[in-house]
Amino acid sequence: MRKKILLIEDDYRLRRILQLVIENGGYEVQNTANGREGINTWRQWKPDAVVTDLKMNPGDGMAVLEFGKEYSNGIPIIILTAFGTVETAVEAMKNGAFDYLTKPVDNVELLAVITEAVHSTKAMTVKDDELLGRSPQMDKIRKEISLFASTDSSVLISGESGTGKELAALTIHHQSAHGNGPFIRVNCAAIPRDLLESELFGHKKGSFTGATADRRGAFAEADGGTLFLDEVGDLPLELQPKLLHGVEEKSVTPVGSSTPLQISVKIVSASNRNFEKMLAENSFRHDLYYRLNTVRLHMVPLREREGDLNLFLDFYLQLFSEKFDCPQPVLSAETVKLLHQYPWPGNIREMKNVMERIVLTCEGEEVTPARLPSSISKQQWGGERQVEVSSTDLRQQEEQLIMTVLRECNWNQSQAARDLGISRNTLRYRIKKHGLSRSALSL
Ligand SMILES: Nc1ncnc2c1ncn2[C@@H]1O[C@H](COP(=O)(O)OP(=O)(O)OP(=O)(O)O)[C@@H](O)[C@H]1O
Ligand SMILES: [Mg+2]
Repeated sequence: MRKKILLIEDDYRLRRILQLVIENGGYEVQNTANGREGINTWRQWKPDAVVTDLKMNPGDGMAVLEFGKEYSNGIPIIILTAFGTVETAVEAMKNGAFDYLTKPVDNVELLAVITEAVHSTKAMTVKDDELLGRSPQMDKIRKEISLFASTDSSVLISGESGTGKELAALTIHHQSAHGNGPFIRVNCAAIPRDLLESELFGHKKGSFTGATADRRGAFAEADGGTLFLDEVGDLPLELQPKLLHGVEEKSVTPVGSSTPLQISVKIVSASNRNFEKMLAENSFRHDLYYRLNTVRLHMVPLREREGDLNLFLDFYLQLFSEKFDCPQPVLSAETVKLLHQYPWPGNIREMKNVMERIVLTCEGEEVTPARLPSSISKQQWGGERQVEVSSTDLRQQEEQLIMTVLRECNWNQSQAARDLGISRNTLRYRIKKHGLSRSALSL
């Protein structure tokens, strides 16, 4: 079967050219014009590698990387970067990008990197996109999800940060009658106030300064699927009537247009804010709240579902061991005890991060309490190492960083990969790419 490559690039012409190049390389390609659509396609199509531009709207390349890190462990992401955006590209590499290519893209190089990328990933036996947990609380949540998915009602998901609200929203979408349609997430806390109307409802070209082309908006993009209004509690008060109108009427009129569009969407929203308090303080409108909260799903904090903790520990240790291609660490009894005592204010996300770091820093021996968080920050890509760089060339910076780390680790590749926060496969690929060798290091 041909490997699947997702291409995310906003320039239409370049997108078509790159699609042809990648297809001619023997791959199946789907392309999208921005990060938001890209993430949507990623969720449904499950590609083997992703090639993405950095600067796009809505949803830039960094958002694609974040999504990959949180929900799709191990799928390599190749970044396309314009000349002169070296810093962002370095940032992208720190955030786990497999590689970057500078525009104008060299076709041969692109195919070579894609080939390396798809071969660098092993088929993972654990998948990171299902709601796990066998506690009675999780059973109840799963039952509610099935029920809420089967109706047209708007669902409001509450719960602390990292409890799985977005994953629950996605599960509702998949189980709903709209499950084959798009799942469009809008982060209400992250959109500048003056852009929200256009972001949600779209606009016509020329309707305001900067509107250089028609934009469909999230409601229209979600037609036939689910609109996920994330962090809805952070929506500024003055924008709430506009949202209420859209949710109530399921009809949107793009800015600058006089023709309303009828839209069929399931509305799911989420927030970790205390609505009762916000309603009492009048910082959230009652009418919008009742409209969004037809049914409520509450995600229980990890500390209140004690029964699930061991399952999650095992799951993430296995997941990251596969991802980083290293033996699965064993936690000492004392370590497990401490992990059980900890209240996990960041819930599953925090625990997932801790397990990732444990796997990255584990030397193969039992994980003792000494390995728990304090040393964590030093293990990120680049960490506290200061690399003297005079050139602005990204390739040189990367090469220099890898050489520095390899030298410090006496060319121990497992150790160097851990220190860099990348998998051994990725490190091997980068060593090959830069033609690094031990003898070159001693020069
Ligand atoms: N029950 C679960 N089973 C498996 N993975 C989970 C579960 N709950 C959460 N996760 C994982 O934890 C991470 C955080 O989940 P998610 O983003 O859905 O949380 P959230 O409640 O939306 O957080 P925030 O309020 O910070 O946005 C994700 O990687 C998700 O896959
Ligand atoms: Mg969330």
